[in-house]
Formats: sequence, structure tokens, C-alpha cells
Amino acid sequence: MIVVIDFGSQFNQLIARRVRENNVYCQVEPSGISFDKIKQLNPDGIILSGGPSSIYEKNSPTMDAAIFELGIPILGICYGMHYMVHTLGGKIQKADKREYGFASLDIKEADPLFKDMNTGFQCWMSHGDSTIELPEGFVVTASTRNTSIAAIANHEKKFYGLQLHPEVEHSINGSLMIKHFLFNACKCTTNWTMKSFSDGAIAQIKEAVGDKKVIMGLSGGVDSSVAATLIHKAIGKNLFCIFVDNGLLRKNEQEDLEQSLLSKLDLNIQFVDAKDTFLTALGGVTDPEKKRKIIGKLFIDVFEAEAAKIDNAKFLGQGTLYPDIIESKSAFGGPTSIIKSHHNVGGLPEKMKLKLIEPLQLLFKDEVRKLGTQLGIDDDLIWRQPFPGPGLAIRIMGKITADRLMVLRNADAILLEEIRKAGLYRKLWQAFAVLLPIKSVGVMGDKRTFADCIAIRAVTSNDAMTADWAKLPHDLLGTISNRIINEVENINRVVFDITSKPPGTIEWE
Ligand code: XMP
Repeated sequence: MIVVIDFGSQFNQLIARRVRENNVYCQVEPSGISFDKIKQLNPDGIILSGGPSSIYEKNSPTMDAAIFELGIPILGICYGMHYMVHTLGGKIQKADKREYGFASLDIKEADPLFKDMNTGFQCWMSHGDSTIELPEGFVVTASTRNTSIAAIANHEKKFYGLQLHPEVEHSINGSLMIKHFLFNACKCTTNWTMKSFSDGAIAQIKEAVGDKKVIMGLSGGVDSSVAATLIHKAIGKNLFCIFVDNGLLRKNEQEDLEQSLLSKLDLNIQFVDAKDTFLTALGGVTDPEKKRKIIGKLFIDVFEAEAAKIDNAKFLGQGTLYPDIIESKSAFGGPTSIIKSHHNVGGLPEKMKLKLIEPLQLLFKDEVRKLGTQLGIDDDLIWRQPFPGPGLAIRIMGKITADRLMVLRNADAILLEEIRKAGLYRKLWQAFAVLLPIKSVGVMGDKRTFADCIAIRAVTSNDAMTADWAKLPHDLLGTISNRIINEVENINRVVFDITSKPPGTIEWE
């Protein structure tokens, strides 16, 4: 395995991804990690990440320099390279010319990282500091026009430094450099597969849970479904799932879930019909934040009430993913800026004194999908687009009523059916309908109408932090609009949302 040390780079996760793409396991650890812990992890190599600091700045991140005595290969990227140079006796200086963006990398000397590469290819740089003096035993292996020391190596010790960022896609040969580090320098073996992961996870869950019971909220989304399947494989009937119908689900949500997941697994699942509770509490509410708060609180109330009925429940299963863990770990250890604290079900665990079981906490989203396939979950479920916790409540502008929910459900189902038919479902991050709070005039069958309006939202995105409106073909938009107006009562107009994020958000509320 490889340990990636977090010096605060926004690309930490990308480094980890690049390693895992080679079927080599890797873990991101804060720079404050103790030397003992590193020894315990027994890595085949260490990658020191980049970071926003300057090495001579007060409070710039450091780590236990004993790692350089471990006798294993170390790759320093950007700040990680500066840290290595500085710690081993070289010098770093503020560069005359800041280098940001693309540069051409000229290979100066044979280096295992550059095996089979021609000189002069594009790489991505982002730095204000540069190496000006090498520590003993190092040589310069590559340069760019503005940075004469762009890559270094101590061949004997297998220490390497890259000023460029090999982990970003725009660095040509970047993935290959990481691959060469793993296999030429660290001699890693490729044993990180979803099969090995699931075998290990099932054994661990069995051991941790014993004959106690685990409860878990199922949402119908990918993460909770895969986590539940894995836990179920480990402890079978001692897993108790709870699916809350809050009345804000899409058309056939529960049926789809039953078909794609439950029919294959003999899951213990409690379907709770809490439609009335939610819709009554939401009656007359129009403020988006109020809607969200009411729903969040009620969900916990319902879940707690159900969970209390289960004897000997000592664990709470959750579908937390690795990015959440890295982010929350950073909040306590590493310097990566805090994006969110990791609490899938706010307040619940502590209050209920349940221990958490988070079997996906080492996986990225695409790995979860691979695991789901390996566990035999249907493709339809694995490739489901995200659906927000507050459900359709935040897609009905203004008051939520049973009638308006029905209108939105029907329009949304048509939209998704056509998107699927056009083969676009997996290419879009999300596509959905929004019911607007306005009526407009139309003419249908020679009669004047004054009816509701549906907005179509379709976006592309990698992580939902930013998104672009999807350039859906006009013919497809035409078909969707026609069908919605003809098939959904009370709709006489359909509009298409052409706002990116930012400045818009993906959801309307
Ligand atoms: P926004 O609207 O903030 O949404 O651009 C970003 C992504 O998050 C989803 N979303 C939510 N998911 N609970 C969730 O589980 C929520 O309260 C929530 N609000 C937004 C949204 O669908 C999009 O994928």
C-alpha cells in the first residue's frame, strides 16, 4: 500500500485516485501522523502531496522527518518536493517568475518515473516557490522554461521530486509517472480489487458486529444500497433496514427499489409510511430553508421511533464515502480546507448510543459503483442519479400539496423516461422537473387555459460543486415538452433552465 501525506493540496484525493486506478491500495493521512502509525501501516512507498503553503512560512505543515530513514521510495509533489528538499539540506526560494498553468517538460536525465516518455510534453504547474539548491545525492531530471529544477531524483534512495502536478488530467504522462513510481520504484503488487475489498469488509463486519443487530436507513440511492448489501452479506437477518416514505418521493420510487435491490436480497426491511406526518407538517410552508428543517427533523423522529422497536440494535450502518472521511479528517488533522463535517444523520448516533458501521468509508463513488456490480446489484440502481434528501419538496416552488406532488411526479417521470430513451441518463449528473409557482395563459383544443408551468433542469457535473446546464437536443426538449403538456393535467407550458452553477444551484430551493 501507499500512504499519501496531506500537506493541504486540493488534489489529494486525485493522487489517491490515480494510485487506486492501478489496483494499488492507498490511504490519505494528515501530515501530523505519527511515525509509529506510518510504520504500522507498513507502506511500500510514500507520496508527499502539494499544498498552498510556502516552506519557510510560519506554521507551514511539516511531518516527522524519520520517514526519510524508512528505506522506502518517496515521491514529493510540489510542496511535498519542497519539504523533501528543505528537510534533506537543499534550498527553496520564491521564484522570480511564478509559474501557473501549462509548461513543456524537458527530460534531462533518465529517471524511472519518465520511462518510455519522449521529452517535451505538456505538464501542469502551479507554484510560487522553486528549488534552487539540491540536497546531497540528488540530480535534476527535468526542467521547464521557467523552472530549471522541475524534477529531481536521488536514485540510490529512490526519492523523487516533481514540481509539476502529475495527478491532474492536463499533465500528459502524469498518470504514467505515478504508475512508474508504484511499480518501478515501490515494486507494488496489484491486489486492490473490489473482490478483495468486499471479502475483507465482510469479514471485518462479521467480527465487529458478532450477534448484535445493525439498523440502517435506506434511501434508494447508490451508497446506502451498496452499504446495506455488503452488511447483509456479512450478518444476514441481523441487518434491519428502514425506508421512510415521506410522501416526497418520485413516481415508483419504492417499487423501483424493491425490484432492483430487495427482490435479490432477503433483506429485513421496514417500510414506514410517514406521508401524512410530513405533508401535514409542510402544510402552507413556502420558505425553502423552513421546508428543509422540517423534513430533516421529522426524518430523524420517524427513524428513531422505528429503531427503538428493534431489540439489541447496537450499530448504525451508513453509506459514508471516502471523500467525506478525508474532509472530516482534515478538519482535525490535515490542513485541507474544511468543506463539511461528516454527519450523515445529524445528531442521531450520539443520542442513540449506536456505534457506526461505515463499510464504504475507504471508497470513492466510482469504486462504490464497481463494488455494487460485484455484489450483484442491478445497473439501474447503481447508475441512479442523485436525489436530494428533502425530495420533491424543494422542487415544488411555494406550497406543497398532494395535487401538486402528483403533477410534478408525472412530469418528472416523463422527463426521465425520455432522457433514458435518448441514452443520456448516465451522461447527465441530474435531470428533473421543477413545478413553478406561476400560471400562464395557453390555448388547447380551441379553449383558453390558465395553468401551471414546469421547468426542466438538466446538468452535467463531476461532483455537484460546479455544474453546467446540459445542452439537450432541441428535438428531445420538444418531445418532453409535448408529452408533459399532453399527458399531465394542469400543465400548459414547459421551460428549460439554462443556468450553470455558480451562479445558480442545481436544485431550485
Ligand atoms: P445544489 O442545489 O446545492 O445541489 O447545487 C448539489 C447536489 O446536492 C443535492 N442536494 C441534496 N442532497 N440532501 C441531499 O442528500 C439535501 O438536502 C440536498 N440538497 C441538494 C442536489 O440534488 C445536487 O446533486
